[in-house]
Amino acid sequence: MKVVIDHAKCQGHAMCYNYAPEMFELDDDGYNRMEPFQISKGQRVIAERAVEACPERAISLVED
Ligand code: F3S
Repeated sequence: MKVVIDHAKCQGHAMCYNYAPEMFELDDDGYNRMEPFQISKGQRVIAERAVEACPERAISLVED
């Protein structure tokens, strides 16, 4: 499974980073500009909560 960030939707709310700083990183302006990245099964619940936490719905989970 992959985590995909829609850069056009991200408004820098930082909920993703606040919720899971080990999974997400923000740029110097506070935006999530990460390229798609793989997660393990064990990280799935955290990723799902980050998806729900983003007010802009900028984070998606995509099956491989
Ligand atoms: Fe952006 Fe959503 Fe995170 S707006 S900084 S992807 S909480």
